[in-house]
Amino acid sequence: DIPSLQDVLADDFRIGAAIDARDIADPSAQLLGKHFNQITAENHMKPDAIQPTEGDFTFDAADELVDYAEANGMETYGHTILWHSQVPDWWFQYPEGHAEAGEPLGSSDEDRQIMLDRLEAHAGALAEHYGDRIWAWDVVNEVISDNNAEIHRHSRWYEIFEGPEYVSHAFRIAREQFDAVGATDVKLFINDYGTENPGKRDNLYNLVADMIADGVPVDGVGHQTHISLNTSIDHVEQSIEKFAGLGVLQSVTELDVAIGAPGEGEEFPQYEARLIEQGHYYRDLFAMYREHADQLESVTVWGLHDGRSWLRSLTEPRPLESPLPFSDQLRSKWAYWGIVD
Ligand code: XIL
Repeated sequence: DIPSLQDVLADDFRIGAAIDARDIADPSAQLLGKHFNQITAENHMKPDAIQPTEGDFTFDAADELVDYAEANGMETYGHTILWHSQVPDWWFQYPEGHAEAGEPLGSSDEDRQIMLDRLEAHAGALAEHYGDRIWAWDVVNEVISDNNAEIHRHSRWYEIFEGPEYVSHAFRIAREQFDAVGATDVKLFINDYGTENPGKRDNLYNLVADMIADGVPVDGVGHQTHISLNTSIDHVEQSIEKFAGLGVLQSVTELDVAIGAPGEGEEFPQYEARLIEQGHYYRDLFAMYREHADQLESVTVWGLHDGRSWLRSLTEPRPLESPLPFSDQLRSKWAYWGIVD
């Protein structure tokens, strides 16, 4: 019997997996229950899943996961309250009954108030429904730009508010709503990818530092960590160290380590070599994470096994991308043994 990852990491941090309803049926559920002590809903808690039409909340799929987690002694990490993606169109349009119903919102005070009211209703419904059963929430996801000179992502949220103030509003509103139901311990995170990229990291750091200075209730930083064999582990580490200086909680929220699919005509041994290299990479990465265990609440892999990796269905499909510790056949890969090492 191979070691359970949650036992191996028991003194360090929780180990999580992003899942959806199909992963809590056997045989996947056996793998999940053995190795992981935290889950994130891969899609079931996103704005479009929770509130497909205004005022119409659907918690069924998300509830299945939270019930499963509780029945199996696992924690749940909430993902995500505000995002520019997987958010229904109605969110950025005038509401029914308005003279311009269905038309895109502008950026008047009235329009901003519509956005804030919607945020309050959405966060309020999540707080009411889940209370403290979910220990942390990504309040905002991916608000930093990939263009380091631009700093903030120019999303619909940003356009309507003509700046990044919506981020602070989101944290204050979420805090109010969770506190109102007595869920004062629920932790509020800002989550992004590319936090290992020094320029993007510094932009995120400055935003969080400014919010803390302004008394905005942000508790934690989520490092998505969609990386590859070429990513410098030193950069991943420097980001954790930098945010440690702010005294915020930190989690690795969406880890995967891409190795590239087998190239056309590429011989099997070359591909196998990359899987072994990935084992070394996971070993070195987790050795570093364990040195920073005091800083990390949890480390979550984005998918239970390679066959469930989102990288396989990106716009440029990578059919055989294999970024995770377990294979399509639910077998332990070198990456798994790297973590155990
Ligand atoms: C991805 C899911 O894995 C896919 O199933 C879905 O089609 C698109 O979203 N950053 C995030 C996650 O914050 O929510 C994304 O999840 C992956 C990138």
